[in-house]
Amino acid sequence: MNPLETLVASHLAAGPMPAAEVMELALYHPEAGYYRRSQGPWGFQGADYYTALDLGPLLGEAMACRLGQAWERLGRPDPFVVLEPGAGRGWLGRDLLQAAVGPFAQALRYLHRDDNPAAAAAAREALAPFLASGQARLVAQDEPLEPFRGAIISNELFDALPAQPWRWDGGRWSYEALATGPVWLPGEPCEATAWFTAQAEGGLESGDGAPWCEALPALVQDLAATLEAGLFLTIDYGDTAARLVDKGADLRRFRGHEVDGKWWEDLGGSDLTADVDFTRLALLLEREGLAETSHLSLGRWIRTHAPLARWETEWQSLDAAARLGRMENLLQLTLPTLMGDRFRVLEAWCGCGESQL
Ligand SMILES: C[S@@+](CC[C@H](N)C(=O)[O-])C[C@H]1O[C@@H](n2cnc3c(N)ncnc32)[C@H](O)[C@@H]1O
Repeated sequence: MNPLETLVASHLAAGPMPAAEVMELALYHPEAGYYRRSQGPWGFQGADYYTALDLGPLLGEAMACRLGQAWERLGRPDPFVVLEPGAGRGWLGRDLLQAAVGPFAQALRYLHRDDNPAAAAAAREALAPFLASGQARLVAQDEPLEPFRGAIISNELFDALPAQPWRWDGGRWSYEALATGPVWLPGEPCEATAWFTAQAEGGLESGDGAPWCEALPALVQDLAATLEAGLFLTIDYGDTAARLVDKGADLRRFRGHEVDGKWWEDLGGSDLTADVDFTRLALLLEREGLAETSHLSLGRWIRTHAPLARWETEWQSLDAAARLGRMENLLQLTLPTLMGDRFRVLEAWCGCGESQL
């Protein structure tokens, strides 16, 4: 047994453990948690999963265009601070800083926030020239930040927060837990069950349900408090609450590029994720005073905001291997069953600004 399994076994001696508590330990246990290991999980061969950033610079280039528009709308502040919680290796920050040009690039200050030791080590390497020039900085998760004008961006942050799956069995709500294996136990009516019931379009059917992220309001509040004015932009797995409930969404496990629902196996050794409820995230942002919330599929957002005309011109001049790589980058981010429809981009605006983005 690995140390986490020993710990979980001692919890189980006192009774079943809710899946969200297992997920919390599996990902964030200070010594044995998946996101507290010295080795990162990202990449292709020999890794567990890849993100949009492994595919090439297109996401960072689109982000530079979108944040450039936010900078204009704010009246070109200098500095324009970009905080990225859950920044992993810092590749989005690197690609953004590399793609930005002119006075916007000079005003850009990027803050990487992620206490994952593997992430911090990789980010120090990826961001080295920008750390040296003072354009980038690594900040600890508990470091208090002065409110700034700029943007908060994230890629696959919210799907890595512990979440509790709930399911409607036709007569009552049950929550998923670990006993000798996974079990569904009857649950008391609570905020999660009230939310899912209210969101179910056309009434609940047996098997409906979704994961509930208890930590979401506090994290949204914490992040919103740092943004004096500007853009909140998050990219993640997930959907509207109605579609998640209808799907009966559950936790997922990623290991060696295989995905399954066995969240209770190999604790600390594989990634666990939960679909993000974009309806709830937008509502929480609105409660914190952010407005104009909207969410698009990643495919549509890329087609709307990526600098595709420039991309195409550069692409024409590349050699055959590089052209293939770039093509894959574009296709993966836009095709529906790859990342195009499975990921969504939520944007919300905070504070003053001349006109709509
Ligand atoms: C799925 S990874 C995504 C990494 C990166 N954004 C990427 O796209 O490659 C999620 C990351 O979020 C970090 N994380 C989780 N909760 C966080 C929080 N409250 N603040 C900052 N980072 C957090 C984890 O340590 C992990 O590195």
